[in-house]
Amino acid sequence: MIEPSITGECNRALDTILEARRSIRAFTDEIPPREFIEEIIAAGILAPYAAQAVGDDLDFRKFFVISKSSPRLKEVAEIAKRRAGVLSEQLQTQMATNPYLQKKAAGFSQRLELFAKRGVLGIGTAPYYVVVAERKGIPPVEQQSLAHCLQNMWLKATALGLGFHLVSFTAQMAEDGDLCGILDIRPGEFELNGCAMGYPKSVPPKPSRPAVNDATRWIE
Ligand SMILES: Cc1cc2nc3c(=O)[nH]c(=O)nc-3n(C[C@H](O)[C@H](O)[C@H](O)COP(=O)(O)O)c2cc1C
Repeated sequence: MIEPSITGECNRALDTILEARRSIRAFTDEIPPREFIEEIIAAGILAPYAAQAVGDDLDFRKFFVISKSSPRLKEVAEIAKRRAGVLSEQLQTQMATNPYLQKKAAGFSQRLELFAKRGVLGIGTAPYYVVVAERKGIPPVEQQSLAHCLQNMWLKATALGLGFHLVSFTAQMAEDGDLCGILDIRPGEFELNGCAMGYPKSVPPKPSRPAVNDATRWIE
């Protein structure tokens, strides 16, 4: 039963935050206060996790905050660039003999190539890069849990006036020994995902979305 106190005003506040959420990919140089990042992480911890998959281990989720001023961020950015290069080459080799991939993966392939040349967007381009690690379980639903966690973080960041974008390439580095060394986790123990945060340089206009009626079919 939802308490009456969290209906009405809170409901409208939630709508305001949901509508204000955007992918923000350009940031000012101003560093958001540490307390804001802690509040955003608290929101991420509140998100659902796959309790049945990981058991009653409360150490199911970890957050690694790397600020732009940290020399570690340069190392992580190099690791990401290198990994993008490897994945780009692998994909191009597969695409050479696979017409389906040639058609479907062209955009992703270009993106990987760009990451390999210029670095991964969000790692070094924002005041904070945050890696979120979710303990592996059975069934393997860690990326779903991470999506819930990141969405909570995104909404909280929006409520605090911060810009946020997903850095989903982070997932491709979960087995990287160098990155796991920096994070001090064992490769293979966690799935990863990540995000970049800071104050937005500008806020994009309201994005277009389908109307509820167009996206919904009521099955009688
Ligand atoms: C699974 C998933 C992965 C995404 N990965 C990235 C990413 O790595 N980098 C990025 O800038 N945006 C990423 N996005 C954000 C989408 O591009 C974005 O949500 C979409 O363009 C709509 O824009 P909006 O977030 O401003 O509403 C991702 C979104 C989803 C759902």
